[in-house]
Parts: sequence; structure tokens; C-alpha cells
Amino acid sequence: MSIAFFDSGIGGLSVLKEALAIMPNEDYIYYGDTDNAPYGTKTKEEVRDLTFNAVKFLTNFNIKALVIACNTATSAAVRELREYYDFPIIGMEPAIKPAVEKNCHTGARVLTLATPLTLREEKFKSLVSRFDTNHIVDMLPAPKLVEFAEKFIFDGPEVESYLKSILPLNISEYGTLVLGCTHFPLFKKVLARVLPSKIDIIDGNRGTVKHLHDVLEEKGMLSKSTDKGRISFYRSGLEIKDKILLDKYLHIING
Ligand code: DGL
Repeated sequence: MSIAFFDSGIGGLSVLKEALAIMPNEDYIYYGDTDNAPYGTKTKEEVRDLTFNAVKFLTNFNIKALVIACNTATSAAVRELREYYDFPIIGMEPAIKPAVEKNCHTGARVLTLATPLTLREEKFKSLVSRFDTNHIVDMLPAPKLVEFAEKFIFDGPEVESYLKSILPLNISEYGTLVLGCTHFPLFKKVLARVLPSKIDIIDGNRGTVKHLHDVLEEKGMLSKSTDKGRISFYRSGLEIKDKILLDKYLHIING
């Protein structure tokens, strides 16, 4: 049985990469809804419906767990998905808790980079109100980064000038940048260059994958195989066969 990974596009590959490091013997199905990306600028209802369609497609396969490797789709649909399906469903959420713990005694602030939908959703607001008692967390939507990523542009002058145009003027007051969108770890190099060096950049990918591992372990569902698992890739309902595109995906998960 396989573990399914779902994202609006290629962002979830950054999560799959972590999963392969921890659980290389599992079989995976990766589904990016590329035809409908980006999700982050759509309404909650649109994203919920698109997510349900994609998950319905994935249930045609023999899947034992599902990772919604997308913060936006998690905010819009994870609760209803869990009511509807009985296999384990793991969602994403911005790593606010560790970021607040790290900065709350230093006087530095925390900046959360995510999609507009993630940042305006109830799920994010309640996460912040649970942990951000000193009000040090700020939000920064960066929808254009998703568009760049979907064109496989992860660095260069265009990306750099977009980032410079959206970063707040008081950027030196921040201690941590939280990447609250799975597309954004693909930009770690350019972010590190553009941000003051004292700012650390964190994402929730490893935590999510550890959680997936623990859930599968507890249920006795981890693969017993000692061979490297298989991965198949789908884009909006179609298996990716194109060698050039496959190489681009493999480059992200192996790079
Ligand atoms: N990768 C997604 C996330 O984590 C969504 C990006 C988008 O489609 O806008 O939020």
C-alpha cells in the first residue's frame, strides 16, 4: 500500500523529500493539482472542492495514508476530509510554536510567509492565538512565489526583486522567518541571500513527516520492506510520463 501526498502543485515535493529521508522503503503516490494551481489566491470553498476531487482520485489507488502537503488545502479541507475518510490524514501547519518559543525572550519578531488563504483562515488565527501570547508574530502573503515555483524558477533576479519588494522595512527586527507554504522551501537559497543573516528560516516539513511516521508506526502500518520504495507522480489526474518533467521532479526530491 502507498502513502499519498497531495499539493496544489510541486510544493509538496519539499515534504515528500523529507519523507524519503526518513521512510525510504515506503511506496508513494504524489499528486499535484497543477492545472488548478495556485490555490492560495482562491476562495476556501474552491480549494475545499478541488482538494476533495483530488483525494477522490487518489482513493482509486491502494493508499494507507494521505499527507495534505499543502498548508492552504489543509486550512480549507482537512477537517472535513477526516470526517469523510477513515485512513490517517496528516495536514500541514506553519511552525509558529517553535518560532515563538525561540524568539519570545529575545525581543525579536517572527514573520510568517504563506499564501493569502492560509493567512486569513481561522485555522491560522487560532494557531497564532494559542502560541503568540506576546504578539510577536506577523504575516506576509507571498502568492507570486507559488507562480515562480510552478514555472520551476527558484532563484534569479525576478525572484530576488519580488522578495525585496514585499519584505517589510523593519525586517531587521525579525529573528525567524516561518515558511508557511510548502512551495517556499524551494526558495531557501535566495531567501537566505536576501534576508539579514541573523534571521533563521524554518518550515514544518520535518515535523509533519515525523508525525506521519509516528502515526503509521502506532497503527503498525509502516512498510516491512527492505527495498527502496516506488514513487509515481500525477498532475491533475494524469500520470507524469514525460522524462524532462520527471527529471525536474526527481531533482527536487533528490537535490
Ligand atoms: N503549497 C501550498 C501551501 O502549502 C499552496 C500554494 C498555492 O497553490 O497557492 O500552501
